[in-house]
Amino acid sequence: MTIQAAFLITCVILLITTLIIAYDHIVVARVPFIRLKISTIQEILSQVQIKPKDIVYDLGCGDGRVLIQAVKIQPKATYIGIEKAILPYFLACFYTRKHTQITIHRVDILKYDYSDAEMVFIYLLPDLIKKLQPQLRKLIKNSKTVIAVEFAPAEVRPKEIHTLKQPSKFGHTWFLY
Ligand SMILES: C[S@@+](CC[C@H](N)C(=O)[O-])C[C@H]1O[C@@H](n2cnc3c(N)ncnc32)[C@H](O)[C@@H]1O
Repeated sequence: MTIQAAFLITCVILLITTLIIAYDHIVVARVPFIRLKISTIQEILSQVQIKPKDIVYDLGCGDGRVLIQAVKIQPKATYIGIEKAILPYFLACFYTRKHTQITIHRVDILKYDYSDAEMVFIYLLPDLIKKLQPQLRKLIKNSKTVIAVEFAPAEVRPKEIHTLKQPSKFGHTWFLY
């Protein structure tokens, strides 16, 4: 293969990747695929208890990193990641492929029934959290655990507010309901 052909193929791959990412951000998800640092996730999870029979959701699971860290702490629970955008969905499927406890669904959170959750993790923007609020409020009322990073459901008072010792670029606080 000539250098020109290799250069052309690289440019086409980069262009396609950029288009998929832009489509994901602007059209599909509208909440950016910003990941928490692993140390941030570990700090949060070290302060909650996941029991063997729990069903744990990450709503907007990105590349699945929260669920992977949770499995390391409690391998007997069931973990479900909901992700609407194409790129993070494929990354999550790939990274979680060896963890049979984790299932990733490519679906809009707003159209998904997660009423069987014992614990829900969210790291989302306020607009979307507002739309999720009716379902979240029901869970909180039924004494289920909701963890919200940076932005929290309004109208419901959290049990605890924590400042992260291991913050991420866009994650400094988390709320426990
Ligand atoms: C800020 S990222 C959080 C990723 C991961 N939970 C973490 O903490 O590293 C939010 C994720 O939610 C996804 N998302 C946004 N709106 C969604 C929706 N309506 N349904 C499902 N996923 C959505 C985005 O694609 C993005 O990957």
